[in-house]
Amino acid sequence: MKAVVDPYRHSVRPEDLDLAASLLAASKRPAALTGAGMSAESGLATFRGTHSSLWSRWEPEELATPRAYREDKELVWGWYMWRMGAVARAQPNAGHKALAVMSRRWPYFAIVTQNVDNLHERAGSTRITHLHGGLFEHRCFACARPHPEFVVPADAADGPQLRLAPPRCLHCGGYIRPGVVWFGEQMPEEPWNQATAWLRECDLLLVIGTSAMVQPAASLVGFARQHGAKVVLVNPEDTGHSSLADVHLKAGAAEALPLLLDRLDRS
Ligand code: OAD
Repeated sequence: MKAVVDPYRHSVRPEDLDLAASLLAASKRPAALTGAGMSAESGLATFRGTHSSLWSRWEPEELATPRAYREDKELVWGWYMWRMGAVARAQPNAGHKALAVMSRRWPYFAIVTQNVDNLHERAGSTRITHLHGGLFEHRCFACARPHPEFVVPADAADGPQLRLAPPRCLHCGGYIRPGVVWFGEQMPEEPWNQATAWLRECDLLLVIGTSAMVQPAASLVGFARQHGAKVVLVNPEDTGHSSLADVHLKAGAAEALPLLLDRLDRS
């Protein structure tokens, strides 16, 4: 028997849940834009917002720029290996799983993510584009050829202080870098084109766990709205997207998204 979830026990306001569920019920082509908050309840740190967030503990310039990598490869590679280890150990949360359910219900359901983890894929979602690259999509810093995936050392998740020498390119001998977009780098065209194609056509956009601080990703919410989409925000906090939202579910993704599905099923 299906478990009944009582929305009144949760911090999401029932009237907001009702409105979000009615928008989703009316939607033919929903989509989601996700950020680091999507994976927070899987135990992965966000970039901003809490004392344990990544950019409150480290300077992005010292770890997430081409210059940082040129100056201290072992520091940067060790830090990314630590993050890869954390992702490898993490599990998709109830929010990722709720989006995977939506992707089975709506054949065109698409996920545009800023996340470099692979938790949407591991939850079973299929139409996904990664605007900021992928932690496991390594490539050569010199010749840009992709490098085969390798096993993350078991102790990589133990601490960010681990210094590790990056592997060398099988073709040119250059150093391998993580396949993420660093500050000061151009976002690759393909995921951006895919994102705008999907969001131009979507009629409802779930905006989940993003602070709206990083462009051009943040501008996609206004873009989808201009093309006629309703906007449902899922975030425990207000963000720069709040004024664009038709409704704001003020809770974590792992709480709000299953509640939304449950409310939809009872409507
Ligand atoms: P941020 O870390 O900037 O923002 C995380 C957002 O998630 C905040 O608005 C939080 O309020 C919200 N949040 C926290 N816990 C949540 C939960 N359980 N459920 C839902 N929301 C929650 O992350 P992004 O917006 O993804 O870029 O950051 C954008 C980009 O900045 C990242 O892709 C990365 C970073 O620098 C690059 O690395 C290029």
